[in-house]
Amino acid sequence: MAETSSAKKIEKLRNELRRHEHFYYVLDAPEIGDAEYDALINELKKLEAARPDLVTPDSPTQRVGGKPAEGFRKAQHSRPMLSLDNAYNAEELADWDRRVHELAGKLPVEYTAELKLDGLSVALSYEVAPNGGAGTGGSGTSGSGTGGVRLVMGLTRGDGQTGEDVTSNIRTIRSVPLSILADRLKKAKLPQKFEVRGEVVMPAAAFLRMNEEREQEGLPAFVNPRNSAAGTLRTLDSSIVARRRLVFFAYFLLVDGEYFAAGQTATLDALTKLGFRVNPHRQLVGSVKEMMKFIGDAESKRATLGYEIDGVVLKVDAHATQQRLGYTGRAPRWAIAYKFTAQAAITKLEDIMITVGRTGKLTPTAVLTPVFIGGVTVSRATLHNADFIERMGLMIGDRVKVERGGDVIPKVAEVMHDAEHPRGTRKFKFPTKCPECGNAVVREEGEADWRCVNTDCPAKLRESLLHFASRGVMNIEGLGDAVVQQLLDQGLVRSVADLYSLTEEQLVGLERFAEKSARALLKEIEGSKRAGLARVVMGLGIRFVGERTAELLAEEFGNIKDLMSADAEQLERVEEVGPRISQSIAEFFADKANCDLVKRLADAGVNMTAEKKQRSTQLAGLTFVLTGTLPKMSREEAKEKIEAEGGKTAGSVSNKTSYVVAGEEAGSKLDKARELKIPVIDEDGLLGLLAGHGARG
Ligand code: IVH
Repeated sequence: MAETSSAKKIEKLRNELRRHEHFYYVLDAPEIGDAEYDALINELKKLEAARPDLVTPDSPTQRVGGKPAEGFRKAQHSRPMLSLDNAYNAEELADWDRRVHELAGKLPVEYTAELKLDGLSVALSYEVAPNGGAGTGGSGTSGSGTGGVRLVMGLTRGDGQTGEDVTSNIRTIRSVPLSILADRLKKAKLPQKFEVRGEVVMPAAAFLRMNEEREQEGLPAFVNPRNSAAGTLRTLDSSIVARRRLVFFAYFLLVDGEYFAAGQTATLDALTKLGFRVNPHRQLVGSVKEMMKFIGDAESKRATLGYEIDGVVLKVDAHATQQRLGYTGRAPRWAIAYKFTAQAAITKLEDIMITVGRTGKLTPTAVLTPVFIGGVTVSRATLHNADFIERMGLMIGDRVKVERGGDVIPKVAEVMHDAEHPRGTRKFKFPTKCPECGNAVVREEGEADWRCVNTDCPAKLRESLLHFASRGVMNIEGLGDAVVQQLLDQGLVRSVADLYSLTEEQLVGLERFAEKSARALLKEIEGSKRAGLARVVMGLGIRFVGERTAELLAEEFGNIKDLMSADAEQLERVEEVGPRISQSIAEFFADKANCDLVKRLADAGVNMTAEKKQRSTQLAGLTFVLTGTLPKMSREEAKEKIEAEGGKTAGSVSNKTSYVVAGEEAGSKLDKARELKIPVIDEDGLLGLLAGHGARG
């Protein structure tokens, strides 16, 4: 009885979560807040922890990703993933349209216009899962248990013929359904085996956040969202992929290696019915004029989409016409990509402005004569660092070419040297003093940046406060630029710890503050006390410690005291922490001012604890020897699993060996085991031990 009721409860929760995921990630219209979603997923995790036999690979809890794999397996595409021919202007489109009409004869010619998403294409296979892994015993606990299908493989485009099997990473993308129920298949009129192709993109917000984090961790920034989506999808640790919030837009459907026979509009409709995210900006067009209208609209929307596009794709809509037109070697004749030309404009460099960041870093920014580029007015562009200015040979007054792509910060791409564009005359001298506090700035060897090292620099304090309050850190809503500046100007805050002693009276005295807004801000500040250790560690702004490192540190140490007193060896036990990060942490806590800050935060009631990761010890004290080929796991994987549970592995069999794990074609090690009477188990036996059951010897 208890069996079925927990199975039912689990399935009910899963369905509820799937519904919310669909609302959130596919329809972009969430019905519940993040906290409620988290609560539901945590409840499911708890239930599943009690019943591991009911965990199925399509459970929403399985999107978290896992441990690094050894590399990606290659696999053949069911049908080559081709490329597209390009057009750059109306004439080229007209040429193509003419050819299409010629070849189509009497067949209908209409086109679906879609956005050309700037990501990377992937192919996802769905089928009835091969005996569904765990949970098949439960009544209908798996998404495919009742005539539905599951995601069984996700491949990158690769060379078009073969791609890389990135299934574990694809599974972490929330807009990819892990399973599709029978009634949806029926609605979309699909069989129980098909393939979906589309584009994986990284939203602009995720891109910016990721690069900020990379910068904090001292890693080189990705140049654009497309590269970072590609890099992310090929990351071996899928738990990192899960945090990157990639999005999948579906645009093709293949059944038996053939494009869905009902045509492109019908394909997109069917994909929608299946629960995929289909880009809403699409339209049927009949003439080049209509194409150009769609393209113009797309260009003007480009800056506000929240993800990057680099053109528009036009596809002949009717399947029969597509078949008649066929393919050249590399691309279908029935589709073409209209590529936007690089968004750039020439304008004048009026000045170079220096801003001081939280870490004291001096960042030069170009102040430009405002210029309209691809739908937005640009008046600032990044100049990276002193070397960049030097290399470009920039002079104030120069005419420069400024480029921007989607939401990415505009950059100065080139100085104009031709006769048409007068050169500037004023040389820019990178400051030797901090523009905010006047202290001398330093540049350490091997570093690109100049820094203000004055611990009392007001700019650093301002930026630290903003960082501390920001989303993803302590998340204090309402504590933005203007408020922080006022708090500083009035002398109300001299350290982040002072935030916790602000009073309503003090706030009401500030500009644009009434009782109500003051109370709201205080409530936010109060609420931030519960953010937990990882957020506080991030908030402290330790160099090279970004979100992920902070989380891992919190899990490892569980409270700030233990973190502060950890030595290099203990710190470096944490995944991702090497000598550089451990040294930075040690230096941070060696500074008395920082220790005082922590103490003041603690006194104010800021929670600085976290749930410590339970070290798995299932196999502690046991030594395994692996031999032969295991049916499902590679030896490396088996070794990782054993070690993750506290066990050891050895290369040869001795009296100290607890178990020999033998696969096919096990050789002399097996003989030795028999000789020494060491228990021999197979892969299932090992899995049993890992899961905490006894081995079947
Ligand atoms: S259709 C036969 N539709 O553009 C291949 N591609 O330049 C037809 N892309 O490899 C692909 N958005 O990665 C298609 N709405 C869209 C697209 C799209 C982006 C990418 C895709 C393809 C590349 C070709």
